[in-house]
Amino acid sequence: MCDHQPTARLRDWALAACLAAFSVFGSTPAGAAEGAALPAAPAHSAYSKAGADTCLDCHTEDAVIGIFKTAHGRPSNDAGPFGHGQLQCEACHGPGDAHANGKGKNRPHLIQYGKKALTPKAEQNETCLACHRKNAAHWAGNAHANNDVACSDCHKLHQPKDPVRDVATQTEVCTSCHQTRASDAMKPSHHPMREGKMACSSCHAPHGSTGPSMLKKDSVNETCTTCHAEYRGPFLWEHQPVAEDCANCHQPHGSTQPAMLKTRAPFLCQECHEVQGHPAVSYTPDGLPGGGGTQRGAFLLAGSCTNCHSKVHGSNHPSGSKLMR
Ligand code: HEC
Ligand code: HEC
Ligand code: HEC
Ligand code: HEC
Ligand code: HEC
Ligand code: HEC
Ligand code: HEC
Ligand code: HEC
Ligand code: HEC
Ligand code: HEC
Repeated sequence: MCDHQPTARLRDWALAACLAAFSVFGSTPAGAAEGAALPAAPAHSAYSKAGADTCLDCHTEDAVIGIFKTAHGRPSNDAGPFGHGQLQCEACHGPGDAHANGKGKNRPHLIQYGKKALTPKAEQNETCLACHRKNAAHWAGNAHANNDVACSDCHKLHQPKDPVRDVATQTEVCTSCHQTRASDAMKPSHHPMREGKMACSSCHAPHGSTGPSMLKKDSVNETCTTCHAEYRGPFLWEHQPVAEDCANCHQPHGSTQPAMLKTRAPFLCQECHEVQGHPAVSYTPDGLPGGGGTQRGAFLLAGSCTNCHSKVHGSNHPSGSKLMR
């Protein structure tokens, strides 16, 4: 019917194929027990003789055969598990001959994935990394790897659509562990994540990165200004905390304050600026330079420093040193 159908004997279980298959695991054998010496003859292999066809004698569950609707299940994908000469199901689940021929309690377990898996996560991950080192170049030592998070905690490989790779459903996957981020995203001022227009991976590299907090770029500001280019600077008149780190004032995951601010101006500004003299007296405009005067109405209504210091991100105006124009 289509090239995803498993019924065709995808694999010629000849020694040549067997050799090619072993090379999949490179120097870090995952399924291949103890870097197993190549079997003398395929008949003695710990791998099943008919590959996926063996497995599919028993495993016809929808939850399994969904894999043939994914990139992994494509026989035309030479480097993929079902490509020519590859180990098919056993590329991920390990040698399965004994499993396929076992009965009841004597059916050995294979490499397992998911929450209840018996297989240690580091071993699961090595199996994937055998083919995916390039995609996860910064995996080793990142916060996920260090905290025993498995590839399969995020990726669902037997489903036609992997929820973590879909912008509309990814947030749910991430917040299943990062619960405070779920409540942040529900706050009135937020990035359009729950609207399905952005995802955690718009800013983060979940496989690890060279930046802080697994951000995609080398700094918070570089990450933010990939989209908010107008605040990139340099400005003639910089506002030091802006040039330093957008997160000095903003909470990128969501806030109850407008513009995702950590706290509302004037309090935000007064975290750093003197309460004594201007601008502390700014609550009463009479204390302001110029006596407030015509500013009075607007200032009392909005009560915010940004009514006057509107260029809080920096100014390019020749006389913008006070960030007012
Ligand atoms: C003769 C039937 C049969 C064949 C053939 C078979 N399995 Fe299984 N498999 C089972 C049964 C039964 C279970 C246990 C299901 C349970 O406990 O819920 C199982 C469980 C599994 C599991 C779940 C984890 C585990 O280790 O228990 C995986 C993964 C699996 N099989 C993969 C394979 C693969 C890959 C092949 C082909 C190499 C294969 N199976 C061939 C019957 C079979
Ligand atoms: C690219 C790696 C990969 C390949 C190839 C693969 N699987 Fe899996 N398998 C997984 C992962 C990861 C899971 C955990 C569930 C998920 O991600 O959807 C899993 C889960 C399973 C389960 C357990 C389902 C459950 O209910 O817990 C069975 C059974 C299974 N696979 C059988 C197979 C069979 C049969 C094949 C070949 C047709 C196969 N797998 C090919 C990675 C793979
Ligand atoms: C035998 C090698 C091999 C193994 C083992 C393997 N993959 Fe893959 N994987 C591939 C190839 C090849 C692709 C397709 C890349 C492409 O088409 O761009 C792929 C694609 C993917 C994709 C993207 C799917 C898509 O639709 O583009 C994800 C996610 C993925 N693999 C995760 C995993 C995880 C997690 C594991 C371990 C459970 C794993 N892979 C094991 C070879 C492998
Ligand atoms: C914390 C969740 C998470 C974990 C853990 C994770 N991934 Fe991913 N992975 C993602 C997301 C999200 C994407 C999509 C990235 C994007 O769209 O920018 C992705 C994409 C991929 C892709 C598609 C190609 C690419 O690079 O975009 C592959 C292949 C892949 N992951 C493999 C792996 C492997 C192998 C592991 C384990 C070593 C792993 N992933 C662990 C979340 C995760
Ligand atoms: C299975 C649980 C789990 C899932 C799913 C998960 N994470 Fe994590 N994540 C963790 C753990 C555990 C840590 C380390 C402890 C911590 O910082 O909370 C972590 C840390 C992080 C960090 C902090 C990195 C650092 O260097 O401080 C970021 C950012 C992150 N995860 C983003 C994501 C994103 C984005 C996703 C979804 C694509 C995701 N996580 C999915 C468990 C998970
Ligand atoms: C708009 C960009 C952006 C988006 C989208 C985003 N983050 Fe972050 N995230 C950041 C920045 C910036 C930091 C560093 C915060 C800091 O320095 O105060 C961070 C830090 C983190 C941390 C580690 C530090 C901490 O505060 O706990 C985790 C975990 C995290 N984010 C998870 C997530 C998850 C899960 C999602 C999706 C629901 C997500 N982030 C979406 C920008 C973003
Ligand atoms: C992938 C692109 C992207 C990245 C990266 C990004 N943003 Fe945004 N940002 C958006 C979009 C889209 C909106 C919504 C704009 C709209 O609704 O008009 C937005 C809105 C905002 C808003 C206004 C929110 C409001 O309620 O008015 C602030 C503040 C903001 N972003 C700050 C940041 C900060 C700080 C970072 C870095 C940590 C960042 N953004 C990274 C795309 C991005
Ligand atoms: C000193 C505190 C501070 C820092 C640091 C800061 N901002 Fe802001 N930002 C604000 C304030 C205050 C507002 C609300 C503007 C207003 O009320 O006129 C705002 C608003 C925004 C908005 C929404 C603008 C709109 O039109 O709705 C975006 C986007 C934004 N900031 C991005 C950034 C980026 C990107 C960075 C880092 C380069 C950054 N901010 C650093 C204080 C700051
Ligand atoms: C994280 C600390 C911090 C926050 C929050 C902050 N600022 Fe600043 N601001 C500074 C620093 C540091 C300077 C540089 C001071 C200097 O050069 O003497 C500065 C400079 C200024 C200047 C120019 C002063 C001059 O003499 O040229 C103005 C105006 C200003 N800030 C207004 C604001 C306003 C309005 C807010 C609130 C929206 C705010 N700041 C929030 C740290 C902060
Ligand atoms: C009514 C307009 C107005 C409001 C509201 C206002 N400022 Fe100012 N601010 C000014 C003017 C005008 C100056 C320039 C004074 C000068 O050049 O001597 C100034 C100067 C400053 C300076 C530089 C101080 C210095 O010694 O040069 C800082 C810092 C500052 N304002 C912070 C704030 C903060 C924080 C708020 C809110 C609490 C605020 N301003 C509210 C008009 C205002």
